Amino acid sequence: MSFRLTYATMHNSPEAMHERFEAALARVEAALGARHPLFIAGADRDAAQHADRRSPIDTQLRLGEFALADDTDVDAAMAAARDAFPAWRATPVAERARLQRRVGDLLAERVYDIAAAMVLEVGKNRMEALGETQETVDFFHHYADDFERNAGYAHTLPDDPIEGYASHNASVMRPYGVWVVIAPFNFPLALAGGPTAAALVTGNTVVLKGASDTPWAGRLLADCIRDAGLPPGVFNYLSGSGREAGEALVRHPLTAGITFTGSVAVGRHIMQQMAAGAWPRPCIAEMGGKNPCIVTERADLDRAAAGIVRSAYGMGGQKCSALSRLYVHERVADALLERLRQQIAAIRVGDPRRREHWLGPVINANAYASYARYAGELRNGGAHLLCGGAQLGQGSGGPAALARGYYVEPLLAEAPLAHPLWQHEMFLPILMLHRYRDRDEAMRLANDTPMGLTAGFFGGADEVAWFQDHIEAGVTYANRPQGATTGAWPGYQPFGGWKGSGSTGKAIASFYYLAQYLREQSRTVV
Ligand code: NAD
Ligand code: ALA
Repeated sequence: MSFRLTYATMHNSPEAMHERFEAALARVEAALGARHPLFIAGADRDAAQHADRRSPIDTQLRLGEFALADDTDVDAAMAAARDAFPAWRATPVAERARLQRRVGDLLAERVYDIAAAMVLEVGKNRMEALGETQETVDFFHHYADDFERNAGYAHTLPDDPIEGYASHNASVMRPYGVWVVIAPFNFPLALAGGPTAAALVTGNTVVLKGASDTPWAGRLLADCIRDAGLPPGVFNYLSGSGREAGEALVRHPLTAGITFTGSVAVGRHIMQQMAAGAWPRPCIAEMGGKNPCIVTERADLDRAAAGIVRSAYGMGGQKCSALSRLYVHERVADALLERLRQQIAAIRVGDPRRREHWLGPVINANAYASYARYAGELRNGGAHLLCGGAQLGQGSGGPAALARGYYVEPLLAEAPLAHPLWQHEMFLPILMLHRYRDRDEAMRLANDTPMGLTAGFFGGADEVAWFQDHIEAGVTYANRPQGATTGAWPGYQPFGGWKGSGSTGKAIASFYYLAQYLREQSRTVV
């Protein structure tokens, strides 16, 4: 079952949706400033230290105080998850699935309040925040349905009558134990909730750590899991830094497996740690992207422009799936550029609490400073900046309404192929463009990166198979105006990276995903 198909109708009308969102935003803003503890063994737990967090929309907007987990808290969470494991593993699949669906239902009931908090915490716009919450609902339902439909992946095998003793054979899949989930800042609910749902329904217990910039979304998920009635210790939530809480979780002897979503550098480091120790432990690492789109001379350019702008600039380019490299056939490049310029000029940058603002701030002061640095490197490296390049927020002398946030312009640059930024995931609203002559040259350039997450294509229908067969990417989209490289949804587009973008070659919400949270036991009885 997917909520996606009912997304447009569940709110009755767009106006009703906006009204309900705005009421929730007022409620959430009125309660800002609270202290948010950890959640361990079914109870709140204060940490020794807390971080005072501000919104990227306006750095004077104080979100609250969030617990910073240390080694002692990590030990407590791991012990709680270990103690809860035997009973949870033995809980019938139908009961685990029921509780899991209940979590999804609670997320759906609270969709407006959770989305309002994410707008404030991450700076995404309301449609993105509502969409992410719906996606998380779907993850909880999707994995419960999938595990039940596959009967826990257990199989009875043929009897084996060697030497007159018939052996009865079976293959069963069993959970590992305590599964650690480490989430990124950009989808702090969906990419915390998805792996958590997968680990829980397969019978593992979970310790989740949210990203240090976005501890709130994970805590709201923890509230839904608590209220759904999962037994104490089955799920535990830690907010805190990667360097302290993250490292302690990865090193921990009780950690049986990890799902990490984040940058390539941190992912590689965690994979190395997981390979060391008493024995190598499984690590599902979903990592960065440097995603290309090829536009051929037979493309529908209106469709292409719509898909490109959404994917390059949606959420300020802060998606692993964001489009950052555009290869356009030279004969249609000017016509496409004209359309892109028009659409980029129409993007409203501003406070994402307001309905009319499509593009909010970038996540933090580092990202804001990196934008100015990259714009400078593009200019100095011979790129032609076709649109954007300026900071609009703090210290920029830009509009007063943006002066306390991390706002930047969407940037489009035609850049020489030797420019080093073709190879670097900037994670900002920056799109680089190259005009190509020959389709095979475009494919070679599109594949010339150690990453392989998503890729887009606009061209003739009979060119699509060529694109799909040759592109090195785990997620491909052809002729899709809703998003050239972004917008995968559980149950519709399995989502996972090739090459440096993913460690397992199995995609999120695919047919093969849940099996990664289980280890096989062959059972023979005579
Ligand atoms: P990040 O790598 O900085 O952090 C991710 C998480 O790892 C955070 O919770 C962080 O606290 C933790 N962490 C950091 N150092 C750690 C350490 N030494 N040990 C253990 N944990 C540690 O990434 P980010 O900035 O939060 O997110 C952006 C990155 O995530 C981008 O590269 C993006 O492409 C990637 N991403 C990938 C996917 C995907 O599905 N492939 C989805 C979303 C984001
Ligand atoms: N689901 C997100 C997208 O596909 C990551 O853009």
